[in-house]
Amino acid sequence: MKKLVKNGRIFTESEDYLADLLIEDEKIVSIGARLHDADAEIIDAAGCYVLPGAVDVHTHMDLDVGISRAVDDFYDGTVAAACGGTTSIVDHMAFGPAGVPLHYQFEVYKKLAEGKAVIDYGFHGTAQHVDADILAELETMAADGIPSVKAYLTYGFKLNDADVLQILQKMKEIGGITAFHCENHDIVEYLKQKHKSEGKTSAVWHAKSRPNLAEAEAVQRVLKLARMAGDAPVYIVHLSCKESLEAVREARRQGQKQIFVETCPQYLLLTEECYTREDGLKYIMSPPLRTKEDCDALWKGLAKGEIQAVATDHCPFHYAKEKQMGKDDFTACPNGAPGVEERLILLYSEGVAKGRLTMHRLVETLCTSPSRIYGLYPQKGALLPGADADLVILNPDASGVLTHSQMHGAVDYTAYEGMKIQGEIRLVMQRGNVIAKDGRFTREKGAGRFIHRTPHTNV
Ligand code: URP
Ligand code: ZN
Ligand code: ZN
Repeated sequence: MKKLVKNGRIFTESEDYLADLLIEDEKIVSIGARLHDADAEIIDAAGCYVLPGAVDVHTHMDLDVGISRAVDDFYDGTVAAACGGTTSIVDHMAFGPAGVPLHYQFEVYKKLAEGKAVIDYGFHGTAQHVDADILAELETMAADGIPSVKAYLTYGFKLNDADVLQILQKMKEIGGITAFHCENHDIVEYLKQKHKSEGKTSAVWHAKSRPNLAEAEAVQRVLKLARMAGDAPVYIVHLSCKESLEAVREARRQGQKQIFVETCPQYLLLTEECYTREDGLKYIMSPPLRTKEDCDALWKGLAKGEIQAVATDHCPFHYAKEKQMGKDDFTACPNGAPGVEERLILLYSEGVAKGRLTMHRLVETLCTSPSRIYGLYPQKGALLPGADADLVILNPDASGVLTHSQMHGAVDYTAYEGMKIQGEIRLVMQRGNVIAKDGRFTREKGAGRFIHRTPHTNV
């Protein structure tokens, strides 16, 4: 089956031009002016932008956090992703029982995703302890299509500095990359308990327990450990504040080249004032929302290329249910918020349409760079002959208001309710199939495939 996307303005990370795009079965076969194929179904993209299907390398579908479970499973969550223009995810696997090998969770996650995911998916390994077996297994995980692992510097299975150093060394040796959740655990735990003991239990104290410097200290520590490991590749997830960005700049000034930074729409667009609202529990996530000054610093860092990727950290819990566990004690609230569906349109509307970001940077940070960093390129995140025919047709002239009623996930709110939106996603295609059109999901459950990733290519 052939499809011809005609008359669109094609955007890549470095170019834009009016052209047609011919698709055969699952692949892009050619891109050029006035293409013709009598057998192809025509999709008219006149007046619209055509960009690669977006890649979200930080989601938590069906995440088991012990006290509850993220409410989007791999079906609901990937339908939401698809409708928002995301055609591939790399999901962070949850912690398993203490002491399990990395492959234990891989087996669990295969069962969670297979037959449910509607877009293509990969997984990041989760390191919850380090010993010789785990280090050896990093290699077999990479051979099995998972050349990335995440280490947490806080939460129950946090790693210590020696663990981190060994992982960094091993991942460098095998051409993989380590992702880090950076927060200083001891400081966060101390502040949480202090605030609680003083009766300070509302949502805003969640933010006050996790200050900017607690994140920046951990970022700096990880970067120094990566330097000790010989400039081992490091990916900082959900960087949220100006001090952390400064730590990244400093490490780069000192000569480190293998540093990759991710932020998320919530850290660009929302501030800690959300915690003082009546529905402040909706925004309990870690790191917490920061200040307008931090948002501005992140936008600048994104525009300048200091930040390589925008992912979502999609981890939804119902406001009316799970989030209420925190109503009398912020420490009892499951951490995380939804966002997998909103990412692309928010970055277009708040970034490109408001002049903070070029379309090229949008494509680079939502599609191409994450794909390169995590070994999906050029199959994903690029409009190239031979690549998977994953694309988004975006109408830049449409406008509207973002509301929960338009969303497709299972959760009962959007963190961006009522936000004015410029632009609209008209059509989303994955591997040559239209999976979403005019805000409706048009494909079937289980159409997504596991992406066997290869060791990362430097950006
Ligand atoms: O609060 C968050 N971000 N929850 C999801 C898990 C994580 O830390 O990434
Ligand atoms: Zn995290
Ligand atoms: Zn996360």
